[in-house]
Amino acid sequence: MAIDKKFIDLFVNVTSKAALAAHNFVGKNDKIAADKAAVDAMRNELNQLNINGEIVIGEGELDDAPMLYIGEKLGTMVGPNFDIAVDPLEGTNFAAKNLPGALSVIAIAEKNNLFNAPETYMDKLAVSKKVPFDATDLDFPIEKNIKNIADAINKDIKDITACLLDRPRHKKIMDKLKDLNVKMKLISDGDVSGALMVTNEKYNVDIFLGIGGGPEGVLAASAIDAFECKFQGRFLFENDQDILRAKKMGIIDLKKKYDLKEIVKGDSIFCATGITNGDLVNGIKVKENKFVTETLVTHKSSKISKIFVSDDTIKT
Ligand code: FBP
Repeated sequence: MAIDKKFIDLFVNVTSKAALAAHNFVGKNDKIAADKAAVDAMRNELNQLNINGEIVIGEGELDDAPMLYIGEKLGTMVGPNFDIAVDPLEGTNFAAKNLPGALSVIAIAEKNNLFNAPETYMDKLAVSKKVPFDATDLDFPIEKNIKNIADAINKDIKDITACLLDRPRHKKIMDKLKDLNVKMKLISDGDVSGALMVTNEKYNVDIFLGIGGGPEGVLAASAIDAFECKFQGRFLFENDQDILRAKKMGIIDLKKKYDLKEIVKGDSIFCATGITNGDLVNGIKVKENKFVTETLVTHKSSKISKIFVSDDTIKT
């Protein structure tokens, strides 16, 4: 079944209010406070909606940040049953340090349609819809993925751009990309945005790859779905505790590669509101008692993928 379009504006309002709350802490060099403000505002807004919602992806367990807990029930409990994935403040460093790219993000699907992912890292790959589905794979050598992309979109390998988090764990990948003469877009944080760069030629990114947060992977997959691009992810478990938690969540094959269709099923809505200016959307603008937000919105069934600009009065 399709999710009613009326929920688009309601969820845009949720991420807008969370973004506004975090915006108060932009440049205050306190990522925990910024995250907490976004979390509290998001919870408060979700609780006012006529939905029967349950958090399936919360955020923050990895670094003990404040979070909306997995399993937490939200809404008035009158209305449709939704799975909810949240990252109230994606890019806590960006907000704390007043850098571009901080977002407030949510994804919604009907109950049991969003993957209940463990709070571990995920090896990810995202590619534009122009590239045939079977041309890339997490298990292919990098050179094969890059060559297949170059062939599919008729570009020289030197003109291919790969986006990945700038982390020491990616040294081997970076060395290989350098050998191949592929351009890199190395992001310091924010791999939801990084993965979304493959959705539109204007971002000039042909492949997103590398290891980042699992929850961020599910959120990115939800948005990418509406753009019909490819997303693949494989969870990485660092210790016995991670493995135990994953098993409790029903993951039997710990090495399984998940394709987008296994991560998000059916209809979905995705909203990402800018807190600070970024590649995807501009950040919040506050003037006197008003604020203006930009939100990237996708609604799969109605084929909506656009930037919504909304304004509201700041309530004190
Ligand atoms: P936070 O907003 O929780 O700080 O996450 C930012 C982020 O860059 C994510 O986008 C990414 O998935 C993850 O951190 C990568 O983790 P790490 O910094 O441990 O490499």
